[in-house]
Amino acid sequence: MRFIVKSYGCQMNSYDSQRMEDSLLEASHQRANSLVDARLIVFNTCCIREKASEKLFSDLGRVRALMNGSAEKFLIAVTGCVAQFQAQDVLKRAPWVDIILGTQDIHQIATKVDEAMHKQLSGSLVSTTLNAKSKFMRLSEQFFHRNVAEFITIQEGCNNFCTYCVVPHSRGREFSRAAVDVIQEAKQLILLGVKEITLLGQNVNAYAGEGLDGKKWNLSRLLAEFGQLNGLKRLRYITSHPRYMDEGIAEAHEKIATLAPSLHLPIQSGSNRVLGRMNRKYTVEEYLKCIQMLREHRPDLAFSSDFIVGFPGETDEDFQQTIELVEKVRFSQAYSFKYSSRPNTAAATMNDQISDTIKSQRLRVLQDLLNEQQNKFNKSFVGRHVNVLFTKKGKHKDQITGRSEYAQAVTVYNDDGAVFIGDIARVEVTETLPHSLIGKVVK
Ligand code: SAH
Ligand code: SF4
Ligand code: F3S
Repeated sequence: MRFIVKSYGCQMNSYDSQRMEDSLLEASHQRANSLVDARLIVFNTCCIREKASEKLFSDLGRVRALMNGSAEKFLIAVTGCVAQFQAQDVLKRAPWVDIILGTQDIHQIATKVDEAMHKQLSGSLVSTTLNAKSKFMRLSEQFFHRNVAEFITIQEGCNNFCTYCVVPHSRGREFSRAAVDVIQEAKQLILLGVKEITLLGQNVNAYAGEGLDGKKWNLSRLLAEFGQLNGLKRLRYITSHPRYMDEGIAEAHEKIATLAPSLHLPIQSGSNRVLGRMNRKYTVEEYLKCIQMLREHRPDLAFSSDFIVGFPGETDEDFQQTIELVEKVRFSQAYSFKYSSRPNTAAATMNDQISDTIKSQRLRVLQDLLNEQQNKFNKSFVGRHVNVLFTKKGKHKDQITGRSEYAQAVTVYNDDGAVFIGDIARVEVTETLPHSLIGKVVK
C-alpha cells in the first residue's frame, strides 16, 4: 500500500514517525508522494495544547472529504499523543478511523495495517497500552533513508507532572533505554550517513539507563560514550529539565569536542510563585545559578528556552518577573506559548484562569523581547566564523543551508559547488535575517 505518515508535535513524534515508516517499508509498503496519492494515511499526533489536538480533527475532516469523493479504499490510522490521551474522542468524532495506536504501540503499525486490510467486521482497531520497554524491544530492526542530522530517543515519558502538562499521561512514566541499544542504533545511523545525532527525552537529563558495564549510567556518562563514536561529527540532547542539570553535564560541554555549545533549558516562568503552582520544583535563583555553572564550564554556551504566559493566577507582577529573568539570561532563541487548559491536568481546575486578551498581550510583549535578543545574538556573529553542518538545499538556486554549532540556521551561496550536504565547513557570517544568518564558506 502507498502510505504517508504525517507528523505533528515534537521531535519525539518525528522519531516515532520515522520508525513507523521503517516498519511499513520493511513490510513492503511503499512511500506515497503526497496525501492524494496515499492509500494509507497515518496521523502521528500531538495534544500538548488544545490547538494541536484540534488540528488533527480538522485534518481528519479534510481526509474524510477526499475519501468520499473517491472509489478507492483508504486506511486511516491515528497514532501518538492524541491517540493515547484522547482515544475516546477520536472514536466519537471520527468513528471511521481504522487504526488507533498509542505512543508506545506504534511498533504494531505494520501488523495492524495487515489486520485492518483483511478484517471482516467494521470498527476501529485500538491499542493504547503504555509500555515503553516493549515498544523499544519491538521496533523495526531495519533503518531506511535518513537525513544528515537525526534523532535517537534515549528516554521516554515523564514523572514530573508539571500541573499544565499532558506528557506524563500521553507518554507514561520515565523509561530509559539501555546504552548498548542506543549506541548500536547510533552506529547504524552513522553507516547511513548521519553526521549529527540529537539524543531525545522528555526529561533527557534524568536519563538512567543500563550502561555498557551493567551499572546505571547518567546522561553525562552516555554523552562521553557518544563522544567516542567514529564518524559522528556533532552531538546534541533535548529536553533538559533545570532541576536535573548537574556539574557532570556542564563538564561534558567542556570536554566532549563534538557536543554542540547550545542548550535548551525551559524555564516556563520568571516568578517563583508561578513556578511553584506549575510544580516545576526549582526557583528562579536556582535556574540562574545553573546557567552560571554551565557558563563557567563553557562560556560560549547558547541558551534557548520555553515560556508559558497566562498560567492560572499569573499577575502583571509575575509576568514582569518573567521579563526581568529574560533580560538577565539573554537567550539565543526561545519558544513561548499561551497557557492552554488540558483535560486531566491539575492546572485545568485552578479557578483563576486568565483571559485570552491578557494572554495575547503578554505573549506579544514577551515575544518582542525574545526576538530582540535573538536578533542581538545573531548580529554579534557578523564578521565572525561559525561551523555549519549543511543539511539541505536552500530556498533559492545555488543556496545551501544548515545549522551552526549554536543551532542558528545558516545559508550560504554555493554556486561553485564547494560544499555538499553532510559537510561541516567554516563560514564567515556576512549578514543576519530575523531568524537566520547568511555567510560565505571560508576557503
Ligand atoms: N519535556 C519538555 C516539554 C515538552 S512540551 C520540558 O519539560 O520542558 C514543550 C513545551 O510546551 C513546554 O516546555 C511548555 O512550554 C509548553 N507547554 C506544555 N504544556 C502546555 C500547556 N498546557 N499550555 C501551553 N504550553 C504548554
Ligand atoms: Fe511536561 Fe513538565 Fe514533564 Fe516537561 S517536565 S514533559 S513540561 S510534565
Ligand atoms: Fe506533543 Fe506528544 Fe510531543 S503531546 S509535544 S507530540 S510528547
